Amino acid sequence: MADVNPGLEGVLAAETTISLVDGSAGRLLYRGYEIGDLASHGTFDSVTALLLEGEWPAAPASLPPAALDEPVLAALHGLPPAAAPLDALRSGVSAWGAARGLDRPPTPDEARELIALAPAIVGGFARLRNGDDPVDPAGADGLGVAGRLLHAITGEVPEASRERALDAYFVCCAEHGLNASTFTARVVTSTQSDLASAVCGAIGALKGPLHGGAPSGVRDQLTQIGSVEHAERWIREALGRGERLMGFGHRIYRTTDPRAEALRRVAEGLAGDEAWLKLAIDVEDVALRLLAEHKPNRVLKTNVEYYASVVLDGVGLPPDLYTPAFAVARTAGWCAHVLEQAEHGRLIRPDAAYVGPAMRPLPL
Ligand code: ACO
Repeated sequence: MADVNPGLEGVLAAETTISLVDGSAGRLLYRGYEIGDLASHGTFDSVTALLLEGEWPAAPASLPPAALDEPVLAALHGLPPAAAPLDALRSGVSAWGAARGLDRPPTPDEARELIALAPAIVGGFARLRNGDDPVDPAGADGLGVAGRLLHAITGEVPEASRERALDAYFVCCAEHGLNASTFTARVVTSTQSDLASAVCGAIGALKGPLHGGAPSGVRDQLTQIGSVEHAERWIREALGRGERLMGFGHRIYRTTDPRAEALRRVAEGLAGDEAWLKLAIDVEDVALRLLAEHKPNRVLKTNVEYYASVVLDGVGLPPDLYTPAFAVARTAGWCAHVLEQAEHGRLIRPDAAYVGPAMRPLPL
């Protein structure tokens, strides 16, 4: 029987000029630029221009604010307040696509419109579920996409340090090669479907804890551990039960995820809860030691979600908006891949090894 590779590790399914994820060197480049430099010196809006257009913009880029139009508002109003905010984002994107009249092939203008709309959808739902009206994005003039997410949730212009921290987080999460959600977006695009369908599929793939659903898991884990004195026992017990530590391990990186390093610097620069940051740093050391002992043949290092959780907590996001915030940032990468796939790609259609019953008569 032919070899089966169920996780598709090592399978090259596309050529891309968007990002390089070098797992052994622990390096991430967007169009040739290192993630650490982009997080320290770039903005998410400029990184979006880089991802969509291929070059660093000559002047700092700024995506225009987007308001929720009637079809999107109606979709959000139709959801129960207890709905998962990521489902609300998927529903809002779907309603936008249905009403917008999308072109084939997808265009950079559609991509910019959707990236600008995403924070308004997440913030709009976060307010509607509490009985508040969505805010007028005009009040967020001068803010980038990340700052507009905070404004859309709270109705207030965020402190500059918080806006800057969330913006750096957005830069770190904007793009990451052919991960599960981006691959999903490319599969949908490969059938000559539209941008909204591709991004809805990607949001669905991001929802699971093995991909985008981990940062609130990191928070829960730190809350349960409580203090560094309890860390060793708690972690040993969790590993003994066969559980995975949230915020550690990666399919590609065989060393520390470079985004974790960049986000640790952001967390350290954010005037937030010092004790919480110290707990995260101390627990990370214990976890790395015990993971090396637990799986000596598998390199399990800190991934992006670990310090993401500290940054998102520090900027005041409620835990159930962590993954939606990640999705807003990743919309930039998804859209860049949709455009690339639409331009150069081929219908993606792998094969499966049939292991079911041999041909047999119907038991009539
Ligand atoms: N804690 C404990 N053990 C782990 C962890 C972990 N965090 N990660 C992997 N392992 C173990 C697995 O149990 C497995 O052991 P086994 O061989 O005895 O079955 C071995 O290491 C290899 O694991 P795989 O599942 O093959 O690794 P994979 O590449 O599929 O997984 C993943 C990567 C999903 C990120 C995994 O490391 C994990 O579940 N981490 C915890 C969840 C998490 O942090 N998710 C966020 C990922 S970052 C992102 O996608 C944005």
